[in-house]
Amino acid sequence: MGGVSRRAVLGTGLVAGIGLAVGIPFAVGASGSSSTGNLVPSTAPLPPAFVRPLAVPRVLQPVRRSADTDFYEITQQRATAAILPGPPTEIWGYEGTFPGPTLVSRRGRRTVVTHTNRLPVPTVVHLHGGEVPEESDGYPTDYVHPAGMSSMDMGGMAGNVSHGSRTYTYPVDQRAATLWYHDHRMDFTGPSVWRGLAGFHLVRDDEEDALGLPSGDRELPLMIMDRSFGADGSLLYPSVDRTLTRIPGVGDGFVAGVLGDVMLVNGAPWPVATVDGATYRLRILNACNARRLSLRLDPPPPGGLVQIGSDGGLLAAPAVHDHVELAPAERFDLLVDFGGYRPGSVVRLVNDFGSDRTSEVAQFRVGPATAPPYRIPDRLSTVDPIDPAEAVTTRTMQFRSGRIGGMRGWLVNGAPFTPDTAAASVRAGSVEIWRLVTDFHHPIHLHLQPFQVLSRGIDGPGPFDAGWKDTLDLRPAEEAAIAIRFGRYPGRYVFHCHNLEHEDMAMMANVVVA
Ligand code: C2O
Ligand code: CU
Ligand code: CU
Repeated sequence: MGGVSRRAVLGTGLVAGIGLAVGIPFAVGASGSSSTGNLVPSTAPLPPAFVRPLAVPRVLQPVRRSADTDFYEITQQRATAAILPGPPTEIWGYEGTFPGPTLVSRRGRRTVVTHTNRLPVPTVVHLHGGEVPEESDGYPTDYVHPAGMSSMDMGGMAGNVSHGSRTYTYPVDQRAATLWYHDHRMDFTGPSVWRGLAGFHLVRDDEEDALGLPSGDRELPLMIMDRSFGADGSLLYPSVDRTLTRIPGVGDGFVAGVLGDVMLVNGAPWPVATVDGATYRLRILNACNARRLSLRLDPPPPGGLVQIGSDGGLLAAPAVHDHVELAPAERFDLLVDFGGYRPGSVVRLVNDFGSDRTSEVAQFRVGPATAPPYRIPDRLSTVDPIDPAEAVTTRTMQFRSGRIGGMRGWLVNGAPFTPDTAAASVRAGSVEIWRLVTDFHHPIHLHLQPFQVLSRGIDGPGPFDAGWKDTLDLRPAEEAAIAIRFGRYPGRYVFHCHNLEHEDMAMMANVVVA
């Protein structure tokens, strides 16, 4: 079966799922106009803030190294995690942890990861921000079935199926950057990531090393997620099909996106970290399904939030912000000098796009100054601007709500995702300009290569658009232009909205590079 029958399946899901939602405007939500989505209220008592210590996911060690390659093994499995003070939570985790372990790759050394699926459903692993050949990119129908599960158990979904495990090969011929890996199965990415299938994958290189950035305990990857919990500790997610095998999508009123009311950082609710009075590197990832974040420290650090990198690695020069806005999947690499606070200061990481408890994220308790502050260089890297005059084509990509099988869903250029049609066929090596046009909030993500933002509306790039991006925070009724140099690798890749409910409800399309 191909995409047509898949869409018939999605149509069924939408009938079952959003019957009552027809005609309800999508852009409503508990958090006003800052996010597209609706809150799933926890029925568990919300845990107290600033009690649990911040934990950093462990770094996974290779099982083997050769002259030019590091080999890793990851088992995807059910596990329980102590997230709330009450009953434990069943999660789906890489190596059974939420988030998964962090992979660290070195530019120039290949990383090979064998994933074994012991979950009750098929999975797909995507390295977000990775520049990788098509067969390792985690195309949404490149399924890894758990050993013993047949395609018929899946309603006969067509795809390229591996049984039990699959090996992904990452060339790591790319700049140092904060990447992450997460599930990417067609129609079911939202519920799978919500259950815990996400982890960091850091790429390091000599250029970054030469900056002598804060490292060790002073380098904190922070994966921020909102989740909701039942009284029994379970993660609450409004899937239409609880088995996550046949009918995609979420139930009544959640078509705009699913928001949680518990803010987790690296899997712990509202954690507290004790920091030295020194400069820290905070590698922030918005791993929420649908929630946008506007983050700042309160009180603000005297030196500001110094952005040194974005999705695709180092900026050319540091940029000082008083706050940063992150749509789902965006990464910000920030330096914060906690030495600018008086020892004993208590500093909150707040989210101005949240309300009530979601307006706080974490707390830092500042210890004595231990070191002279890190001196931030004026130049960090070289980011050669893509010359728009080189573009061979300008395309318009529309991201809008629309009808699928008579019901509402999310479309790219008027069409729902199917594996068999291409929204764009591009020549390897060519530069294109894409105009991205939208109705609501849609964080637009391209696989394969990062891009540069040329404009937002009638202005230039926004304050958070600098450097190499792979996800663009497109806001309601906004239009942005990006420049893309295509084609490290030939093949079929997806681009999509990274609001995971929109993605699962078909806001995805193919670009074929030849
Ligand atoms: Cu982070 Cu195609 O996804
Ligand atoms: Cu990606
Ligand atoms: Cu969207």
